[in-house]
This record gives sequence, C-alpha cells and structure tokens, in this order.
Amino acid sequence: MLIFKSVQETQSVCAQLRREGRILGFVPTMGALHEGHLSLVRAAKAECDVVAVSIFVNPTQFGPNEDFAKYPRSFEQDCTLLEAEGAHLVFAPAAEEMYPAGTSTFVHVEGVSERLDGASRPGHFRGVATVVSKLFHIVCPHKAYFGQKDAAQVAVLRKMARDLNFPAQIVVCPIVREPDGLAMSSRNRYLSPEERRQALVLSRSLKRVEELAACGEMSSRKLTAAAREVLAAEPSVRIDYITAVDPDTLEEIDEVSSGTLFAVAAFVGSTRLIDNTILKA
Ligand code: PAF
Repeated sequence: MLIFKSVQETQSVCAQLRREGRILGFVPTMGALHEGHLSLVRAAKAECDVVAVSIFVNPTQFGPNEDFAKYPRSFEQDCTLLEAEGAHLVFAPAAEEMYPAGTSTFVHVEGVSERLDGASRPGHFRGVATVVSKLFHIVCPHKAYFGQKDAAQVAVLRKMARDLNFPAQIVVCPIVREPDGLAMSSRNRYLSPEERRQALVLSRSLKRVEELAACGEMSSRKLTAAAREVLAAEPSVRIDYITAVDPDTLEEIDEVSSGTLFAVAAFVGSTRLIDNTILKA
C-alpha cells in the first residue's frame, strides 16, 4: 500500500492510474477508522480497480469551540486496517499541504449547507465542500464513497458535484451499526459506558418512527412527537434537531413518503451524535 503526504505526488500517481485505464475509487476520511469506513473501502474494492483513501482531519470543517484538537487520530492503526482491506493508496497530507499560507478559496453550496447540521454548525459544510472538492481535484476519482450516516453531508456533496461538474459518481453506502443499534462513528470513542448506553435512544427513536410510518402514519409532526417521546426516556440526552426532510434539499416536509429522510442529532454528554433513516413505502 502506497502512502503519500504530498499533493503533487498523489495527483501524478492517480493521473497515471487513470491514463492506464484503471477505474479509481476514492474514500475520503478523517481517520479513526471503524467498520463504517471499512464498509466504504469494501464497496470501492468491489466496484473499482484501485482504491485510494484519504486520511485528513480537516480543520476548516470544525467550529472554534468544536473538537478539532481532540478528534481521535490513530494513523498507524488506520493504515494497518486499510492494508488488510486491500486499499492501494493512502493520501495523508499535513494541514499546511492542503491549506498553504494564503489559501483564500472556499466552496460554499448555498441553501443546503445551512440546514440540519449546517444550521447547528455554521461553516461546517463550507469546510467539507472545500476539502472534498480539493481532494477530488487531487485524486480525480471515477467513484467516491460516503456513508449514509452523514446524510446532510451527502446532500451537500451531491449538489456540489452536480453544480461544479465533477465527473466523480457519488456512491452512498448504508449506515453500519453496532449489534445493539448504535450507528458507528469515530466520536463514539468519546462516550463513557453510561453515555454509550444512553446513546442507544437515538436509534430507538428512529425505529419507532419506522414502525409508525410502516403502519401508515404520514404526519411529520406526529412522527417527530413520537421520536421525541422515545428520546425523553433519557433526559440527559439533549436534542439538537429531529426532523423529516427531503433527502436532496434537506427542506422540512409535512407529510412523509417513501424516500423521506428522518434525521436526528443529539448531545450525549458533550458528544454530538447523528443518526437517520430513509423511510420506506
Ligand atoms: O465524513 C467525513 O469524514 C468528512 O466530513 C470528510 C468527507 C472526509 C471531509 O473531511
């Protein structure tokens, strides 16, 4: 497995692979890899000739009071996992390599970037769209893989890829859960055993919504109220948002239908977790 830190080297190796006619799959990550990330690598391996993975804790997507400094970093272990999965190339730049002094160009996907996590974390999606567009220019993938857990990120990046004519196909892979239902996240490492238990209420609230929708309840207001009731069982879990939206625009809707995104974000202790489900007919 090749490991590069330089933009130029990565760009020229990826360009060469494309010239040779290889289908290039790309999995952008911030490291601290878990089964969710590895499922993306496996999907890329199954569909592409070469799999590149980036590991970069992107400073521009963290707010001033967020967890950039303490975000888990486990580079050696990540490389061991990626090697075992058969990834071909890792791009792990330093912050100065991605954002040299004087960098002043950013990508802002208007509208969708201000909804869900974008409303709670101002500037977050500007950072995500900027770094992913830079990574797309460096790797030039045929296909790029993202997790459904970050549903709002998916909406922003799909729109960005369309608006800026990136040729990469955006592939979205299902949420990977722990056996007890907790959606996998690098931030789960922050949870104490008690918080880890409390956090299960997020997936439980979504299960309730799925059950009610399957029985024909279509009112967003009633589904949201039912989810809030489940979440209330853990009073120390503080809801950030809980809402039914269109998965592309992230605009709120009154009546759910097949394909509606039902999403929740909540603080468990000081850890902000997100989870969601796409409702079926
Ligand atoms: O989902 C993530 O891990 C990050 O937001 C991403 C897409 C790697 C950009 O930094």
